[in-house]
Amino acid sequence: MSDPPFALVATKRLLVGLLSFLGGQLVNILVFLVDLVLFIVNLAIPDRRIGHVVPHGHPGAGGKWPAFVPPKQGDSRCSCPALNAMANHGILPHSGRNIKFKELSAVVRQTYNFAPTFCFFVPNYAANMLNRSYWTDSFDLADIDAHNCIEHDGSLVRVDAIEDPDQSKIAIPLVERVLRAGSGPNGDLTPADLSRLLGQRRVEAKKANGTFSLAFIHRFFGSSNASTLLTIFGGRLQDLRTFLTEERFPETWEPRIRHQMGLTMMEFNNTVLKVELGIREEVDGTLQAAGQERYGLGSKKAD
Ligand SMILES: *[C@@H]1O[C@H](CO)[C@@H](O)[C@H](O)[C@H]1NC(C)=O
Ligand SMILES: *[C@@H]1O[C@H](CO)[C@@H](O)[C@H](O)[C@H]1NC(C)=O
Ligand SMILES: *[C@@H]1O[C@H](CO)[C@@H](O)[C@H](O)[C@H]1NC(C)=O
Ligand SMILES: *[C@@H]1O[C@H](CO)[C@@H](O)[C@H](O)[C@H]1NC(C)=O
Repeated sequence: MSDPPFALVATKRLLVGLLSFLGGQLVNILVFLVDLVLFIVNLAIPDRRIGHVVPHGHPGAGGKWPAFVPPKQGDSRCSCPALNAMANHGILPHSGRNIKFKELSAVVRQTYNFAPTFCFFVPNYAANMLNRSYWTDSFDLADIDAHNCIEHDGSLVRVDAIEDPDQSKIAIPLVERVLRAGSGPNGDLTPADLSRLLGQRRVEAKKANGTFSLAFIHRFFGSSNASTLLTIFGGRLQDLRTFLTEERFPETWEPRIRHQMGLTMMEFNNTVLKVELGIREEVDGTLQAAGQERYGLGSKKAD
């Protein structure tokens, strides 16, 4: 058998490459188009009634959450309070292990009322980052803490990986700082509060690790986490205390986003941009100075 001619091999390879690139992009374009439709549908139809946000027959319907059981030795947990809380209440396997990406999408939607587009986009991104298939593969919660895949430094509720590689541990002093930062009515959190907190954490991360910098996608994740506190949790101090300190749902809690189609990426982006663009430290030189201080260059001017 003679080898196939170079031109044939090359053409095939180019085609396969192009198709897989377009395939990946097409999926995203499709998701954004559907998201836009859901965004418009939400504007057009009335919200779910208070007390009826979690669909009937699902855990948390009518504010009745399954019993909270703290994680046991050997259970898998991660840097994300939202996923840990679901495992602690048995909505995800309490072990935190062998979760199908596909199934995660469905339960996250029912529990937090994120739009289906959102609930596909994030686990699909995570599956890709872990080199697994969204459609067929599973993961343990701790898997998402692979450093600088999804997990990143400068978290509001976790110490940086350099200080403790176990990102499932709740950093109570950091959580307390978040809970004290609210400047809204009843001490509730506002977008400006979250910008301030994120800026502070980024400066601290820079001081601890001179090479610290966040990739665009990690900035976006970071301000997305923060924005979840403002949207799904409505910034409410009372609820966030239980949720962040114990990774438990408060009695009778339900998502504050009541749209029929859930929180779309389109709507969410509004809050994310407000929070991210409000981070003063990114532009006023504070972050830069924090890096220099680490190398003992910061005092030069004062000499
Ligand atoms: C996924 O695969 C890429 C390319 O082969 C590799 O660089 C990366 O480290 C892998 N990621 C994980 C989490 O295994
Ligand atoms: C956002 O969530 C990821 C994954 O749980 C975490 O690693 C990251 O530190 C969080 N970022 C912030 C700013 O809280
Ligand atoms: C320090 O920061 C860099 C850039 O953000 C990051 O890649 C690296 O993992 C960090 N080092 C540690 C030990 O966390
Ligand atoms: C939301 O913002 C992210 C980051 O800027 C972007 O990748 C995504 O396309 C935006 N989504 C929508 C629906 O606008």
